[in-house]
Amino acid sequence: MTDLPEVEPPWHIEPATSVAQLVAAGHLFDRPVEPESAQEFVDDPRHHLLLAVDRTGHPVGFVSGVVLVHPDKGREMFLYELGVDGAARGQGIATSLVRALRDLARENACRGMWVLTDDDNPAAVRAYLRGGASEPTHHALLEWTLP
Ligand SMILES: CC(C)(COP(=O)(O)OP(=O)(O)OC[C@H]1O[C@@H](n2cnc3c(N)ncnc32)[C@H](O)[C@@H]1OP(=O)(O)O)[C@@H](O)C(=O)NCCC(=O)NCCS
Repeated sequence: MTDLPEVEPPWHIEPATSVAQLVAAGHLFDRPVEPESAQEFVDDPRHHLLLAVDRTGHPVGFVSGVVLVHPDKGREMFLYELGVDGAARGQGIATSLVRALRDLARENACRGMWVLTDDDNPAAVRAYLRGGASEPTHHALLEWTLP
């Protein structure tokens, strides 16, 4: 891809601060929005979700992040999820969202930002690199599913 366009893109980025915005962006998430979880999310100042919205007001992408704090590491932004509507991909929207979350991390006095993704997701890895991340390292992901 050539560098991001210098002309104003046909979308803008705005923070989601209400359940209504999250519901309107529901088509971008993996699963249906749960009203209680959405309310808890917007009520928690450490949780952030930025929306890319097209000129018609339709949400076409999002990135979410959580500010984590640890005694020896200070504050870090965990980039939780990133997604762009299939029809809107390849225009630099993900790259712009990642950069916007990085800027928000700076504003929140974070020392860094990190994300976990799959090796076989070149579009995501590319968007993170274009968004200023360092080259990927190899880690193991282990999960607990709690009944
Ligand atoms: C990953 C995703 C968010 C990228 O969105 P996007 O708006 O199309 O990304 P951008 O337009 O900003 O492009 C970012 C880079 O990825 C590259 N890219 C896009 N699709 C690609 C593909 N299928 N294979 C390789 N590179 C690809 C672009 O060319 C660009 O790199 P470049 O600037 O060096 O040319 C989108 O594909 C998506 O929503 N995928 C499903 C959800 C997902 O996997 N999320 C990440 C979970 S960690």
